[in-house]
Amino acid sequence: MIIAMDGPAASGKGTLAKQLAKHYGLGHLDTGALYRAVARDMIASGTALDDEGAAAQTARDIDPETLDDPGLRTPRIAEAAALVARLKGVRKALVDYQRAFAARPGGAVIEGRDIGTVVCPGADVKLFVEASTQVRAQRRHKELTEAGHDITFEEIHAQISARDARDRTRAISPLVPAEDAHLLDTSDLGIEAAFKVAVKLIGTAMR
Ligand code: CDP
Repeated sequence: MIIAMDGPAASGKGTLAKQLAKHYGLGHLDTGALYRAVARDMIASGTALDDEGAAAQTARDIDPETLDDPGLRTPRIAEAAALVARLKGVRKALVDYQRAFAARPGGAVIEGRDIGTVVCPGADVKLFVEASTQVRAQRRHKELTEAGHDITFEEIHAQISARDARDRTRAISPLVPAEDAHLLDTSDLGIEAAFKVAVKLIGTAMR
């Protein structure tokens, strides 16, 4: 079974994807971590973020063992990830990786921006996870301050609004719900409640 989950920044899809993978015994891939890893490696080597050839090569060279790096979860890397995510060569290399992951026996929960539309259009279930910008900024602010980052709510709000606008309007693989995606708004749902709604939606979709 392939579960495709898409949605904007800090919509709650990461937490939900991990819980669903555990619940159904599926593999889990956070594709945002791949784009963040490309950004991290470009910055580390001092390469300009708009150097498409170098970015594509960096994407092909990503070490999957480094995707849990807490250094990926910073506002600077998120911003840079959204810049390299606009480049065709980067997307091609990373989509190849994601499709190979999806083809593993046993299935997977794959989360990102274009999973239901581009990476796995034939997924068994597609969820589009949303939440108001206010709620998403609150969640991300809590996550970052707890991890020791010194950043205000207003700064986070501005950053995720700008990044979402970039993700929704880019030419290649914009963030948009697939036609057959189930919308899940988590603005008023805690982690446990969102999980219950998701399991219900998946149960109905698989019938
Ligand atoms: O954790 P958060 O929701 O803030 O972001 P993320 O899922 O780690 O993604 C970081 C950035 O990578 C996004 O803002 C997108 O620009 C890009 N991305 C993408 O273009 N396609 C994906 N499938 C996943 C992420």
